[in-house]
Amino acid sequence: MTAFPFQLVQRDEPAALMQACSHHLEQCLQQRLSEPNPRPLGLATGRTMEPLYAALVARLQRWPQPQLQHLRRHWLSFNLDDYVGLEAGDPSGYFSYMQKHLGQHLGLGPEQLCLPQAAAADPQVAAEAYQQRLAAAGGVGVQLLGLGSNGHVGFNEPPCGAEMGCRVVQLSAATRAQNAGLFGGDPQQVPQTAITLGLKEILEATEIHLVVTGSGKAAILQKLLNEGPSAQLPASWLRQHGRVWLWVDRAAMG
Ligand code: GLP
Repeated sequence: MTAFPFQLVQRDEPAALMQACSHHLEQCLQQRLSEPNPRPLGLATGRTMEPLYAALVARLQRWPQPQLQHLRRHWLSFNLDDYVGLEAGDPSGYFSYMQKHLGQHLGLGPEQLCLPQAAAADPQVAAEAYQQRLAAAGGVGVQLLGLGSNGHVGFNEPPCGAEMGCRVVQLSAATRAQNAGLFGGDPQQVPQTAITLGLKEILEATEIHLVVTGSGKAAILQKLLNEGPSAQLPASWLRQHGRVWLWVDRAAMG
């Protein structure tokens, strides 16, 4: 019997889970401000993150103004991924998502909320540039992750090895269907490719927070909890990290 690979935090209701998780993130942000060379944050998108960002924003807006300004000045985050071909201002893209859920509430500029240049003429070059930019910033410190229904993290679709780095990926039909909400509900409107940080960059983070909510994730979460590391379940490589928190609500636990 191997030891449980994650630090499990479970709450019955998603709202209570988001309170607990945002409290931990708030403490990470406080800590980061006191470090001489803090690593950037690693941020995720998706529906799971929306109430988490709302809870975090509410906490941060209660900070005294000087402390909040300090946070704003020193903010640097790298998102996991974005769709190839969407302009930065496209309402379906993740730049708009990040501005809507975080940036505009905290007063963060585009140079502080980094995403891959998804609209670049050559996405492969953009992926390499993004990887280099992250490496130059020291690699990710605290990494937030959601879980795809097929076990992806970021846009690392199965099969995917732990050594895979930032790159252009083909999105599966399942992922395009899962993410159709931001595209008027039509999976055909979801781009077929994306730029994503790989498991390589994710596993180099100092600590990782995987947030999983809702009954729709119960089946894949059970797989993650019961199966060993494999390319068929990209999130399973997190078992090898050693500092992964798993934040779950009752519905996801099944
Ligand atoms: C998306 C994103 C991931 C996200 C995951 C879960 O495809 N690329 O970063 O965490 O899938 O999304 P959701 O929270 O909407 O279920």
